Amino acid sequence: MGKYNIAVLPGDGIGPEVIEQAIKVIEAVGEKYNHSFELKEGLLGGCAIDSTGEPFPKETLELCKSSDAVLLGAVGGPKWDNLPGDKRPEAGLLGIRGALGLYANLRPAVIYQALKGASPLRSDIVKDGIDIMVVRELTGGMYFGERGRVQTENMGQAAFDTEKYSEFEIERIARLAFETAMKRNKKLMSVDKANVLESSRLWREVVIRVSKDYPEVELNHMYVDNAAMQLVRNPAQFDVIVTSNMFGDILSDEASMITGSIGMLPSASLGEGSLGLYEPIHGSAPDIAGQDKANPIATILSVAMMMKYSFGLGEVSDAIENAVISVLDMGYRTADIASADTANVVGTKEMGRLIISKLK
Ligand code: NAD
Ligand code: IPM
Ligand code: MN
Repeated sequence: MGKYNIAVLPGDGIGPEVIEQAIKVIEAVGEKYNHSFELKEGLLGGCAIDSTGEPFPKETLELCKSSDAVLLGAVGGPKWDNLPGDKRPEAGLLGIRGALGLYANLRPAVIYQALKGASPLRSDIVKDGIDIMVVRELTGGMYFGERGRVQTENMGQAAFDTEKYSEFEIERIARLAFETAMKRNKKLMSVDKANVLESSRLWREVVIRVSKDYPEVELNHMYVDNAAMQLVRNPAQFDVIVTSNMFGDILSDEASMITGSIGMLPSASLGEGSLGLYEPIHGSAPDIAGQDKANPIATILSVAMMMKYSFGLGEVSDAIENAVISVLDMGYRTADIASADTANVVGTKEMGRLIISKLK
């Protein structure tokens, strides 16, 4: 029997709704597999601003540091959209990723058999399955580069954000991507904009250098605009994609839709230390918040990733994923993955309940 401390940060909008179901999943697998999961809740994002004035309070950092893993819902919403950049909920999210040194964000886009009809892509494009791992650099690039505003002489204000990557940052994410590819189909696509950006030219140089240590992995390079197009033209060509913070953000939302919905994609953020953070790739979805409409599967699959990557509980991880697959095979759908002929459209709570009853 294992004992694990998990920091839970529900956040804003649909965050608390999807986290509620994920917590029930953790409790169910704890009981079934005889592990003790101790959950402690903390504040991050808009809810933290409302009660402490800060998007990422010190207590939350301490809670995370004293935990074995972090589970996060989503942050942000219209209520906080007019705050200065460094006071917004999203600054809290960047703050926690930075403070915990979580430089690698793994975003698996897998299309489940039962959801092939939910993909907006033609059936002949998705028929052989899609299984892509996006490895997104998470603590560098434009998200963390220098930004600001300056007054120009005769063109009003100007604003700038800087894309900057060091060899060190590129090398460590590249290594992690090659290691990931070694455990999969040994194909790595590095996505950049080396035809324009100097940071991308350094990116490519370093990735090629690292590739010498992984002769078994087939390395290719693609410009990001082409990659965005190829993801919908022929997504099956991709195994592992490694890319910068900004490009990874955009391409993973695109990849998620191929699988049926952004409500399906989990993620794991990992760093040098042993602490990992797990969150769905979607946001707080203010348009459906509070309506029991959100798909909780991305968050539940994030728990599955936590079991595997942080706790080494592969069996528990597989059980969670299999429970999700069974419920989808039975025909249950939240609205985002339903089609016109779906008979069993369920809400957030019912989807959670179905998955948990399969798990038990
Ligand atoms: P979003 O991902 O919140 O929503 C985009 C669209 O997808 C919406 O129509 C929404 O209803 C739908 N959607 C998202 N998750 C869903 C789910 N689980 N089930 C069903 N439908 C789902 O992106 P946005 O609208 O661009 O951003 C809203 C807020 O969330 C912003 O404040 C943004 O900064 C924040 N955000 C936070 C995170 C995060 O916390 N990791 C990620 C992305 C966006
Ligand atoms: C994500 C989100 C965040 C990001 C925002 C909310 C800062 O879009 O987790 O994908 O861009 O990383
Ligand atoms: Mn995003």
